Amino acid sequence: MARMRSLCFLAIVLAALGGCLGSSRDAQCPGAVAVKKRIDCHPQPGASQEACEARGCTWCSTDVPNAPWCFFPEDSPYGYSRAGNIEKTDKGWRVTLNKRQSLSLFGNDISPIVLEAEFQTKDRLRFRLYDPNKQRFEVPLKIEGPGVTAEEANYEVEFSEDSTHFTVKRKSTGTVLWDSPLVDLFFSNQFLQITTTVPSTSVYGFGEHEHPTFKHNMDFSTYGMYARDQAPTSFANLYGVHPFYMCVEPDSNAHGVLLLNSNAQDVTLSPNPSLTFRTIGGIFDFYLFLGPTPENVIQQYTEAIGRPHMPAYWSLGFQLSRWGYGSLDVLKQTVDRMHRYDIPYDVQHLDIDYMERRLDFTYDKVNFAGLPEYIQELKKKGMHNIVILDPFITKDEEPGTYKPYDLGQEMGVWVNNSDGVTPAVGQAWPPGDSVFPDYTNPRTVEWWTQLCLEFKDVLDYDGIWIDMNEPSNFLRGQYPGCADNEINNPPYIPSISDRSLSQKTLCPDSKTYLGEHYNTHSLFGWSQTEPTFNVVQQATGKRAFVLSRSTFVGSGKHGAHWLGDNFSQWKDLRRSIIGILEFNLFGIPYIGADICGFNYNTTYELCLRWMQLGSFYPFSRNHNAEGNSEQDPAVFGDEFARISRATLLIRYSLLPYLYTLFYESHVHGNTVVRSLMHEFTSDQQTHGIDTAFLWGPAFMIAPVLDEGARSVDVYFPDAEWFDYYTGLKVPSAWKKNYSTVSAPLSKIPLFIRGGYILPEQAPATTTTKSRLNPFGLIIALDEQGEASGSLFWDDGDSIDTIENENYFLAKYTFSKGNLKTEILKNGYPGADTLKYNNITILGLKLRPQAVTLNGRSIHGDAFSFEMSGKLTLRISAPLTQELNIKFY
Ligand code: GLC
Repeated sequence: MARMRSLCFLAIVLAALGGCLGSSRDAQCPGAVAVKKRIDCHPQPGASQEACEARGCTWCSTDVPNAPWCFFPEDSPYGYSRAGNIEKTDKGWRVTLNKRQSLSLFGNDISPIVLEAEFQTKDRLRFRLYDPNKQRFEVPLKIEGPGVTAEEANYEVEFSEDSTHFTVKRKSTGTVLWDSPLVDLFFSNQFLQITTTVPSTSVYGFGEHEHPTFKHNMDFSTYGMYARDQAPTSFANLYGVHPFYMCVEPDSNAHGVLLLNSNAQDVTLSPNPSLTFRTIGGIFDFYLFLGPTPENVIQQYTEAIGRPHMPAYWSLGFQLSRWGYGSLDVLKQTVDRMHRYDIPYDVQHLDIDYMERRLDFTYDKVNFAGLPEYIQELKKKGMHNIVILDPFITKDEEPGTYKPYDLGQEMGVWVNNSDGVTPAVGQAWPPGDSVFPDYTNPRTVEWWTQLCLEFKDVLDYDGIWIDMNEPSNFLRGQYPGCADNEINNPPYIPSISDRSLSQKTLCPDSKTYLGEHYNTHSLFGWSQTEPTFNVVQQATGKRAFVLSRSTFVGSGKHGAHWLGDNFSQWKDLRRSIIGILEFNLFGIPYIGADICGFNYNTTYELCLRWMQLGSFYPFSRNHNAEGNSEQDPAVFGDEFARISRATLLIRYSLLPYLYTLFYESHVHGNTVVRSLMHEFTSDQQTHGIDTAFLWGPAFMIAPVLDEGARSVDVYFPDAEWFDYYTGLKVPSAWKKNYSTVSAPLSKIPLFIRGGYILPEQAPATTTTKSRLNPFGLIIALDEQGEASGSLFWDDGDSIDTIENENYFLAKYTFSKGNLKTEILKNGYPGADTLKYNNITILGLKLRPQAVTLNGRSIHGDAFSFEMSGKLTLRISAPLTQELNIKFY
């Protein structure tokens, strides 16, 4: 909130004399609510004592950073009160709420409203607040559940005895997960606000932003959510919208909450601890997921919004991109040097410079003459390629010369001006002015599908990168600017960049098929993703790859994401981990950041450390902006290339494990990348760790994030951990402590968690090649000498192999010196030719005297044992045969 500068100094002095965050009453402001409980009564800029008091609120300064000076008094004149009895419905109950007084913050308050609780499943509660007399905008994402009785549900929704609050409790523990005072509730036409306390300060999520930490600071931070073409900057609203958070309760149970709303909105995280949601349209449509583990929360969340898609195996390989190769020659030189150094590399991206004058569905026949043939050459080498397509279509080519426009115009597929008839015209990459396809319109989907299919005959793409789909427009609104009305300039504009709904995009009163852009703006990229996924499948006949810059709740079902136009800075390297962890919470586990940074020139050391970290991004792509110095891993010379190659070879060797995690994600909604908190939730020390992360439950990546550093302080939660490189067990004294591990420039620290079996495969320079190589198992034992794991395998790029049961699935268990592989599914004939050739066991206490494989003894030469407890066994056994290996 904006404060009057003149009051600042005085406030600081006064505060020094007595202000105290957390005291039950604020010493400076007798009678006022405690600072930590303050809820901003003047959330828009321009607060003053006069304006504050005029709205019936309390004005009192404080030195607590970000704390509002204008806040609702305990006896707030606002809010709603319960009217009448609770009425039973099919799946829950509903109750009517009336506005308490005629006073209004932003006008057009709605009364009565209805609060409806729907017990969708035993672990999922929907509760919504809506206008019973008028249909308001609702996100077209149906989340339904069979319904359970109140007795069956793991939660309890109720009103406090005096009916002033409604609460949701976890039945098993009595923990209050949600508690909203009705007096803090607003439901007007363009301003909806609700506050809830949360049971702890371990709150994660909300997006898309560049958060400074994974675990939020509950220090009155406010984050706006409204899709925007915005390079990552602290507190700015970025490309996508994910009003979802997870909270870990004091007893380590976890729950998640989604606010399904696509309007411009913000959320304030306060120290009480509490959350205040403000949105400027639609309804309050909340879904609460009961967990109780963080992993359960995400499984339940993705069950509701759509499970993440299964990526193609090749798309887990390393990918290279840059905006500004400028010519096929430069691209070829880059590819050649990658190959000269044998750097693992599966995918080449083509950014807008492949296009003729940045026109979608064309390629530059001068600078990129021969591109279609070159793509075929790369394909013969087992590589894949991705082309970028932007959503804007120029309207200024000669009539009859540019089909995407002519056809679109004929079919009426554009976002329209407020008249609902004339297309909205803005400006973006292509020459002249551009119009914007409205992907919420089925006609647009037809148009797009046709063009993408036709383009496949021009450039033989394997996937499509859909960029700039916030949608980005280089003007403030379309021509001739946005009319001055309440839709374009609502009375409250959430805390978003420029405090403008039209800056860098279209005017909110533009019309889309689904409704006003005001409501559908943040759904633009989301609505483009599914049709693009479908057409890529149709065009290629293979599993789709779609990389979308703008995402919304449920985008992971059809698309991947990257963290946007980051900077070649150490800060951005560090924060990429946070973004990647968050998108795993949002159900978009196929996520990465531009390795080495997009904006600015990178440096040797930063880029090398970034190649190391990026080798463990689920979506691993080095990408760079036009005009910056080259930064592919082959451009810095031998040493750099050697280190990048070695790190990527580790990635490639562990791809069977990563792919299995994606299978788990697609089928059960698991996260692929996890925080330490996610796995070691009861260890409070893990709650704030965001400098290291895990692949699934078992593989810890602890990258170097600081310039000049040659060691990393790694926290080892309570488990057995093994150094990936040496197989040495981490000393017991390191457990539940930070320890310094060495990380020379050539190395990224990696650890395997005891209790898990990781499938691996001999690596190669493409996944096309590595997929034919022999498999191995890394068996890392826990304290009891046990471990388990699994392997999912299929042909890697057919559509719906899981649904069609064309896959292989094995389960591994190691116990009492006995490894068993159990084949749960043997539906992929391609698995028949594959073999195991290597079994590694970490953490054995004694050297085995003898080993048998399916009853036959194995010659002593076939295994070696190191004093560290590492045993390596060479075998040759078919993947599709069940193994029983005994160590005596
Ligand atoms: C946008 C994208 C970036 C791309 C550039 C040119 O800035 O975020 O990745 O390189 O446009 O297409």
